[in-house]
Amino acid sequence: MNVFEFCHTVLFSPSLEAKLLNPSLIDWSFDHTSHVPLPCPVQPSRPHNLRFSNEQPSFPRRKAFLDKAQRARALHFFANHELLAIEILATSVLIFPCFDGDESFLKTTIATLKDEQKHLKLYCTRMKELGMSFGELPVNDFFWDKMLKVESRDQFIALLSLTFESANLDFASYYEAIFHEVGDFKSAEIMREVYLDEISHVKTGVHWMNRWRGEDSLWNYYLKNLPEFVTPARSKGMTYLKEARLKAGLDEDFVAQLEQYTDEFRVTRRRQWDQEK
Ligand SMILES: [Fe+2]
Ligand SMILES: [Fe+2]
Repeated sequence: MNVFEFCHTVLFSPSLEAKLLNPSLIDWSFDHTSHVPLPCPVQPSRPHNLRFSNEQPSFPRRKAFLDKAQRARALHFFANHELLAIEILATSVLIFPCFDGDESFLKTTIATLKDEQKHLKLYCTRMKELGMSFGELPVNDFFWDKMLKVESRDQFIALLSLTFESANLDFASYYEAIFHEVGDFKSAEIMREVYLDEISHVKTGVHWMNRWRGEDSLWNYYLKNLPEFVTPARSKGMTYLKEARLKAGLDEDFVAQLEQYTDEFRVTRRRQWDQEK
């Protein structure tokens, strides 16, 4: 199958197996410029128990991580984020034109998708060991909802790599420490693996933004390309890991500007929120 058929299957087959379809099945000898871009679908197809829900189960508090059922619950949230990442990566391939026939952008997108599949499997396996199956809790559409506002490849990279994956550097490291604290070393190890992969995913995003930004600074180009209702505050977690961002290739100016950035949305002021709990 070509890369578009692959992404179509991942996005529109309502089974978890299809979401985990092996990218090695892709035949890259295909004229990518002949693909007619699709409009962004209203939502991906999913198994019944993983359809987007308006119910909002609460995320466990730090102290609750001593309880293995609560740790499984946290992993359920993380697994849904991975599934959403797989779906929005597949969507980006289908909805944006491949102007120049240069397949390297498609190839880096699929390489990231493959890592997200690995993360999803790791979370599902660990969750099962802790007594929960993926789909037992209602799942939200947060990333998908933001994806509906994305109008270009530049905006897509600004949103996924430089915002959500950048924030996940902080989150993965933060939860690695919490799992460690409660003696759940297996889960801590998964968070570590996700963190290391996330550095390379942000790096891929930086690579593309640097290719496209022209004379603009990376920070300005990022600001210009953030979709509506998303601010840079979304790209930070409860802690701010400068080193991880520099390792991912974000320049000093970008890392300093982001560190100082604040906005009016309480939901993004996670540090304070976490301390209030
Ligand atoms: Fe991931
Ligand atoms: Fe990622």
